[in-house]
Amino acid sequence: MKGLVLSGGKGTRLRPITYTSAKQLVPVANKPVLFRVIEAIRDAGIEDIGIVIGDTGNEIRNAVGNGRRWGVRINYIPQEAPLGLAHAVKISHDFLGDDRFVMFLGDNCIQGGISPLIEQFGSSDYNAQIVLKQVGDPQQFGVAEIDEEGRIIQLVEKPREPRSDLALVGIYMFDQTVWNAVEAIRPSARGELEITDAIQWLITNGCKVHPYIHEGWWIDTGKKGDMLEANRLVLDEMEPSIAGYVDRDSHLIGKVIIERGAEVINSTIRGPAIIGEHTRIVNAYIGPFTSIYHHCLVEESEIEHSIVLESSSIRELPHRLEDSLIGRNVDVGRSPFKPKAYRLMLGDNSSVGVL
Ligand code: G1P
Repeated sequence: MKGLVLSGGKGTRLRPITYTSAKQLVPVANKPVLFRVIEAIRDAGIEDIGIVIGDTGNEIRNAVGNGRRWGVRINYIPQEAPLGLAHAVKISHDFLGDDRFVMFLGDNCIQGGISPLIEQFGSSDYNAQIVLKQVGDPQQFGVAEIDEEGRIIQLVEKPREPRSDLALVGIYMFDQTVWNAVEAIRPSARGELEITDAIQWLITNGCKVHPYIHEGWWIDTGKKGDMLEANRLVLDEMEPSIAGYVDRDSHLIGKVIIERGAEVINSTIRGPAIIGEHTRIVNAYIGPFTSIYHHCLVEESEIEHSIVLESSSIRELPHRLEDSLIGRNVDVGRSPFKPKAYRLMLGDNSSVGVL
């Protein structure tokens, strides 16, 4: 089997972070979501992975490389425009050949990996297998209606009035029958070749499409809230470890990970939390569900339920920072100048909440 990872898209709902970076490279528990996807595919025994890239292609290539560090071979497949998930499959035909393959959206985060799914599909005669998850807001996703025996009746992409609460997770398995499907379908109202329509075509044309209901958590990390939620869930499952320096005046409570070269001075860290390589935490409080990436500084401040990207600093804040996603090279600090005022330089589409 081969793997196909989709890593295009503009990430508009994560602006301003995504003006300078691909959304798939935003870290969850200090590891980019895309790396978690590659590892999940590798752990399922797949070594040939194609990554479909768009406008952020160069950045993805630089971050991922040839895959050797994960023991896999990575091929890049440029998509000239975001013309849909089924279009991405179509342009990957040369790479995939007639092999069975798993397609995994590079911004999806799923509990438990995909090994059981791949095993089940690999030893079956299904033409395709989809993954479904019960959600509270199905109209945001592809939605599956299934009958009492668990067979798929119908799939609809982002229906205004969903017929069920089963969303299509961004993980799909196909055999070569998909090639007829992606040729047959036409662009949707949003102008894209929808993978949901391709799978519906398989069903209509008598192919075996197996729905696998996923019981664990699943997050499609499109927005800040989703990133924080994925961060919370992943941190909660990690094992504590201390590879950096923690001084005697500091307290680590619960599951805390201190990465190599990090320093914790006179601070309290209440896990689950992760402190990245060469980051310094000085006279500070780091609360649960917080990930501070590498080369950051948190000094004389309190932060909780947040993600901070690399090389940023947070200093002398008079109030606790919560529910925040802070980008790269950001400086959040107290202003020494008079008059007392907020002084901001924010990128377009930033959002700030003050007391
Ligand atoms: C895509 C699919 C949708 C699926 C979702 C999962 O949506 O079209 O069917 O439920 O991924 O992440 P998109 O993220 O392109 O809006």
